Amino acid sequence: MFNKMLANLLPYMPKKLIWLFSKRYIAGEGIDQGLEVSKKLNEKNIEVTIDLLGEFITNLEQAEENKNQYLEIIERFTAEGIQGNFSLKPTMFGLLIDQEVCYQHIREIIAKAAEKNNFIRIDMEDSQCVDIEIELFKKLKKEFSGHVGLVIQAYLRRTLEDLTDFSNFPSNGYPLNFRLCKGIYVEPKQIAFKDYEEVRKHYLEDLEFMFQNKMYAGIATHDKFLVEEALKLIEKYQVPQTMYEFQMLYGVTPELRSSIVKRGHKMRVYVPFGKQWFNYSTRRLKENPKMASHIIKALFFR
Ligand code: FDA
Repeated sequence: MFNKMLANLLPYMPKKLIWLFSKRYIAGEGIDQGLEVSKKLNEKNIEVTIDLLGEFITNLEQAEENKNQYLEIIERFTAEGIQGNFSLKPTMFGLLIDQEVCYQHIREIIAKAAEKNNFIRIDMEDSQCVDIEIELFKKLKKEFSGHVGLVIQAYLRRTLEDLTDFSNFPSNGYPLNFRLCKGIYVEPKQIAFKDYEEVRKHYLEDLEFMFQNKMYAGIATHDKFLVEEALKLIEKYQVPQTMYEFQMLYGVTPELRSSIVKRGHKMRVYVPFGKQWFNYSTRRLKENPKMASHIIKALFFR
């Protein structure tokens, strides 16, 4: 209740106050800050995935601008020798306005990444986007094989069926590459599992299916229980190090993160940056009031 009230008040709070907690999770506003954070993570033997903030744009001019920024980001990050790849949200390129325009922009970004022998991960957004984003991914995967991956959300009731469909998809010698996360959007119960334990159970079922079907798994979670269970599955299926990695968000559970790195597993951190940090932070908080407790901790227990 208190979390919800706080979350609703957030867009009206001073930007500086919001920045106090956001800065833990966001590298900064510009490419230089993104580079700085990425270099520090690389020094700790952690790879990154770079994300330019922005989503659900309202006109196609913004899509063009976002594409140009991504092209610049790919140039800069590869020129600086950053160990990492890139993530993007299709609604930032007009997915819900004009699917063809969106496809062409993302295609151009992936072509650039492929030219640099790099990789683009398509983030998964709310449930109205799932079918379109899966189709977008399939089309791009056919053309760019090893240079594109997708996110899968364990909380969706449909996910195991989607993975089963994918198991028949021609991989052209490059495994399907999925990041498996719980899912962050607030969805109705007809669409998504709501119970915490149920989501965990489905996460592990999905992960097991991915290992059984030789799909590359980006194990994206800060849930210690899931990390330990994932390690058991890796052991059970003797999954080679080339077929999985752990992924976490910048600023979240750094101790768990370093314990995984110390145990010799590959780790990638999602590094968001950009001018849209304020909208991003407040929207996320309104969508998921549970996050408000993280803010209280960040503000008062630093
Ligand atoms: P859970 O929420 O249970 O968190 C476990 C513990 O981690 C918490 O108890 C807390 O201690 C800590 N924690 C988690 N989040 C925290 C935070 N923000 N601040 C401080 N502590 C925190 N979702 C989606 O729908 N589409 C996507 O494309 C992506 N992409 C993505 C990339 C990466 C690399 C990650 C790690 C996550 C995503 N997500 C996502 C978000 C994901 O779906 C999920 O909402 C969060 O990872 C939280 O779920 P956990 O599995 O970490 O468990």
